[in-house]
Amino acid sequence: MEAGNNLLLGVTGGIAAYKSVELARLFRKAGLNVRVVMTDAATRFVTPMTFQAITGEAVRVDLFDPMHEAAMGHIELARWADHFLIAPASADFLARMANGLADDLLSTLCLVSTAPVSVAPAMNVNMWKHAATRKNIELLADRGVRILGPAVGEQACGDSGPGRMPEAAEIVSALMYSSAEGVFGGKKVMLTAGPTREAVDPVRFISNRSSGRMGFALAEAFAREGAEVVLVSGPVSLDTPPGVERIDVVSAQQMHDAVFDNLSGVDLFVGCAAVADYRPEHPSGQKIKKNANRMELSLVRNPDILAEVAALDNGPFTFGFAAETGALEENAKAKLVGKGLHMIAANLVGEGLGFDVEENALQVLWPGGETKLPMQDKKSLARALVGIVAQQYSNHLHQQGGSV
Ligand code: PMT
Repeated sequence: MEAGNNLLLGVTGGIAAYKSVELARLFRKAGLNVRVVMTDAATRFVTPMTFQAITGEAVRVDLFDPMHEAAMGHIELARWADHFLIAPASADFLARMANGLADDLLSTLCLVSTAPVSVAPAMNVNMWKHAATRKNIELLADRGVRILGPAVGEQACGDSGPGRMPEAAEIVSALMYSSAEGVFGGKKVMLTAGPTREAVDPVRFISNRSSGRMGFALAEAFAREGAEVVLVSGPVSLDTPPGVERIDVVSAQQMHDAVFDNLSGVDLFVGCAAVADYRPEHPSGQKIKKNANRMELSLVRNPDILAEVAALDNGPFTFGFAAETGALEENAKAKLVGKGLHMIAANLVGEGLGFDVEENALQVLWPGGETKLPMQDKKSLARALVGIVAQQYSNHLHQQGGSV
C-alpha cells in the first residue's frame, strides 16, 4: 500500500481493539484514506466515535443502516477499498470468514470485496492453538488472505504465548513495505530442505531424521509473500508447495551442485537442510558382505553449502539454521559468526524435538539482536519466521542503500 490508497479497516470484538485506534492513526499519518467498519462486539471495547475522530469518516457497524443502505452503501464501501485489513481478527470472526458467513456488515464486506485482505489475529493462546482455529487459518491462507502475526508474549488474560495482535507500527510497516505482490514480491529465494543421503554401498546410506517439513513450510511462506522460490530438497515424502520450483537431490555433493548451478539472481538463501557433514570416502560399488566381525568406514568432509554461499562476493542475504542438542545460543552464535551469516535460527533438537515432528520452537539471532518463537506447528512458525526475515532483510537493504 502507498499514500493515497483507500484502506478499509475492520475491527472485531477483542481487547486488542484499542490497538486499532493507534493503527488507524498511523495509517492516516502515512497518507492513507481510512474507513472503519466495526462488529457489534467491537463497539463494546472501543466506541465508533473514537475511530470517527481519528479518521474523519463516519464509522459503519450496522448492515441495515437505512441512511447508508438506501444506496447499497456496503457495495460502495467494498468497491472503494484498495486494501481490506481486519485487526484485531477474533477467533470467532476468522471462523465466520473461513465459512463464508455474511450475517453482519463486516462479514458481508468480506464476501463482497475483491481487494487484497489481511487479518491480524488476536485471541487467547489456547484459542489460537485450537485445531478449529488452525484449520480456519490454513483455509484463509490458502485463499490468499495474508495473516499478520499473531505476536508472542504476555496476554491480557494472564496467559503467555502466541495470540497477541502485533503492535500497530509492525502492521503498518508490514503492509506499507510490501508491494502489491507481497513482502518478497520481485525477490528470488533459494532454500535447502530435508536430509541428504551419503551412499555406503548401492543399498545403504548415512542420513538423518529430517523430514523436510520445516524447509517446505518456509518455502510455502516465502512463496505466499510473493517470492520466486527455488527449493533444493533431499529425499522426503512431501508435496511441493504451490508456486515453488523444486529440485530433488540425494547427496550433499548433489545439493551443493544444484545450489551453485541455480544461484544466479538469488536475493536470499536459506539453509534449512540437515546436510550430512561427512560421506563415506570410498562407497562400494557392490553390496558390502558381512565377512568380518568388525568393519570400519572411512569418512571425508562434505562441502559446507551455506558457508560457501555466505562467502561469495556480492552474494545473497544468508539465513542458516543451527541444530543443537545443547548450549543452543552459544553454538548458534558461533555458527552465525563462523559462517559469516546475516541471521541464524537456533533449533534445539533431540528425541521428539526439531527433527521429524509437527511442531518446533526457534531462537532467531542476528548481529545485535534476537527473538524467540515458541513451540507451534511448523507452518505457523514459518510464517512468523518469514516476517522476521523480512524485517532483517529490509534493514540489510537500507544499510546498503536499497529497499525491499
Ligand atoms: O526437516 P524437519 O524434520 O522439519 O526438521 C527441521 C530441522 C531440524 C532439520 C531444521 O529446523 C534445522 O535445524 N535444520 C538445520 C540442520 C543442520 O544440519 O544444522 P547444522 O547445525 O548441522 O548446520 C548449520 C547450517 O549449515 C544449516 O543451515 C545447514 O543447512 C548448513 N549446512 C551444514 C552442513 C553442510 N555441509 N552444508 C550446509 O549448508
